[in-house]
Amino acid sequence: MIVCKSAAEIGRMRAANLLVADVLGGLEAATAPGVTTAELDDLAEAKIRAAGGIPAFKGYRGYPATICASVNEQVIHGIPSARALAAGDILSIDVGVLLDDFYGDAAITVAVGEIPEEAARLLRVTEQSLYEAIGQARIGNRVSDISHAVQRHVEANGYSVVREFVGHGIGRAMHEEPQIPNFGAPGRGPRLAEGMVLAIEPMVSMGQPGVRVLDDGWTAVTRDGSLAAHFEHTVAVTASGPLVLTDRDGTGQRRVSAGGTKQAPRGIWRAGGERGHD
Ligand code: MF3
Ligand code: CO
Repeated sequence: MIVCKSAAEIGRMRAANLLVADVLGGLEAATAPGVTTAELDDLAEAKIRAAGGIPAFKGYRGYPATICASVNEQVIHGIPSARALAAGDILSIDVGVLLDDFYGDAAITVAVGEIPEEAARLLRVTEQSLYEAIGQARIGNRVSDISHAVQRHVEANGYSVVREFVGHGIGRAMHEEPQIPNFGAPGRGPRLAEGMVLAIEPMVSMGQPGVRVLDDGWTAVTRDGSLAAHFEHTVAVTASGPLVLTDRDGTGQRRVSAGGTKQAPRGIWRAGGERGHD
């Protein structure tokens, strides 16, 4: 069953998700060569607890930390450690919180210092695939319209979509129905209705799509060792279109990880620079 949220509940979810966005913004600013992922984890936990929230991942199925910090060929679920980040790395940061009975969940992939243009392109294409997908989160569409939008944008730009992990509904539980794969033909699956809240999260490999999980039981890495990126937003399906609850300033402006900050007016989801689908 897919739980639809009332306007009041979406307002409460906005608060949880805004905290996620604030934490991610702080972590992005703190990311630099020499910083360890454990230090970023400490920052995140302190900020969440200071705001009255609870880290959602910590203790979830035994996960030991507040954030997931996945470096380079690590796709998702990297466990924070004493590993110091190095210039040229890319770092995927995933944050989840529980605040006022509701969950928030989002992820970004950021550059550590200067990164090669080919890595910057992976970040741009993956983030843009998320915005293509968000553009499909409309009443009357179906779940796989979201999935298809991710796959189409990623593959048109020469990369692969990871298939073993999916996005999800979110609300009073971190993982609710429906599952949201990042691939598939359009027009399939449940129809989207007002009040659904979805965590949409493309995971993209620069090379082959296959992944494996390391012996720590969590860290998913690309089998071929190629770089991977992950972006996630929590999005409400509303009568006036998709509402990005994890958008930091709530104005519809969005951050583009590489090459500075770009702005897109609300409702315009496509940025220039990579291959679109007109
Ligand atoms: N954003 C991820 C998800 O939706 C993060 C989960 S990490 C875990 O599943 F540790 F909590 F599993
Ligand atoms: Co998620």
